[in-house]
Amino acid sequence: MIDLNDYSAKVLENNDAGEWTIPAKGMYPHQWLWDSCFTAMGLRHVNPQRAALELLSLLRGQWQNGMIPHMIFSRRKIGFNDETIWDSRSIDSAPRDVGTSGITQPALIAQATQLVAEKLPTDERQQFLAQMVPAIIRHHAWLYTERDVSGDALVMLLHPWETGLDNSPSWTVNIKDAHTPHWVRAFDLLRMDRIINYFRRDLHHTDASQRMKTLDLLRLYHAQQDLRRHGYDTAKVMQNPHRHFTIESLGFNSILIRNNEILRELADEANIKIEPWLLDKFKQAIAGLTKLCNPDTGICYHRNFDKHMIEETPTITVLFPLYAGVMSKRQNATLVGLLTNTDLYWPDYPVPSVPLDSKFFNEKRYWQGPTWLNTNWLIIDGLKRAGYQKEADVIKQKSIELVARQGAHEYFSPITGQGYGANNFSWTAAVTLDLLNS
Ligand code: GLC
Repeated sequence: MIDLNDYSAKVLENNDAGEWTIPAKGMYPHQWLWDSCFTAMGLRHVNPQRAALELLSLLRGQWQNGMIPHMIFSRRKIGFNDETIWDSRSIDSAPRDVGTSGITQPALIAQATQLVAEKLPTDERQQFLAQMVPAIIRHHAWLYTERDVSGDALVMLLHPWETGLDNSPSWTVNIKDAHTPHWVRAFDLLRMDRIINYFRRDLHHTDASQRMKTLDLLRLYHAQQDLRRHGYDTAKVMQNPHRHFTIESLGFNSILIRNNEILRELADEANIKIEPWLLDKFKQAIAGLTKLCNPDTGICYHRNFDKHMIEETPTITVLFPLYAGVMSKRQNATLVGLLTNTDLYWPDYPVPSVPLDSKFFNEKRYWQGPTWLNTNWLIIDGLKRAGYQKEADVIKQKSIELVARQGAHEYFSPITGQGYGANNFSWTAAVTLDLLNS
């Protein structure tokens, strides 16, 4: 039998694009922000210098305003041209020598940096932190200046792609409300989605039943074009919030809160100052998160900024406050109760992206049911810190078993363990390496 460490390292090697790693051949030919963070966490066990490079290469894409974008495009022209669609070079703040997207993705880069730094010899570690830490501070500062629109220190997201969970149930509903122009309606009526399917890069690699529905995808592209028309400028977008996707996401803010704390530790170590106003935001963000919680049940959800309404649609992000690490013991216990409920988040292969009892649950479709290893990693990390080692170990063992049985798929059925989506997927391999070696 082939060794899982060797296999996982090989997947990453095959997806290596030089200084960064593509998520998967064919389907994902560029660099993505949180993918590279997970990749670096795994790679550090194999080659810490290459892992450091993975994160440093994300800084190529950083905008002058501080934003680290969610995608940096490969220079090779690949089919349908993503770089042209985003047209970042038309924006003053964007880098000149690489094309990027105009939005961001979950801010895990502080934690990835910390984990990689631990594996570097002292002098290299200091040099690495001296490069990474100021850039990450600028990114967090951008999030809290540009995106804290409500003033509650809750970062607001403008596109489902920013959440990392593209077609999570609430996002598909919200995007439908804000972004169903006449032409998308016409496509729907005439069933033209079947023609578009032919051009979709992902459908050349996987079955349509495992991917996002074409009409949902068209709405995402329409929302992206809309942001581009506004120069990816939050203030301009917010002149008409009801026409846009404006979500204060529980998942994103939970991840950010944990990474604020890690960033403080890194800045201390590297002797770099974080401005007092930003440190204040880090504190306020913890109080901000509680505004998303139902005081009776202790369960938190996202807030729809425009409607100023908490939308209680359960998805895996309900469990992310465990990772944030700032909840009371009682709230953690409530979340672990949900997690280990076999009717919700605890089937044979936890943790499903949508609970089993949800009307949206579909074991195959992207973020609408399957188990993903990156979200498992976040939950394992949170469980361990909250003192739930036993539950963390079960998820760890099951995650490793999925990859050992099926290979490094993008996602898996939480019920049967069947692998779906892209195969030889980088973050699945990287998380496996990290689980096996930490
Ligand atoms: C999909 C995922 C997103 C990921 C990207 C590249 O868009 O939803 O989270 O970053 O693929 O793997």
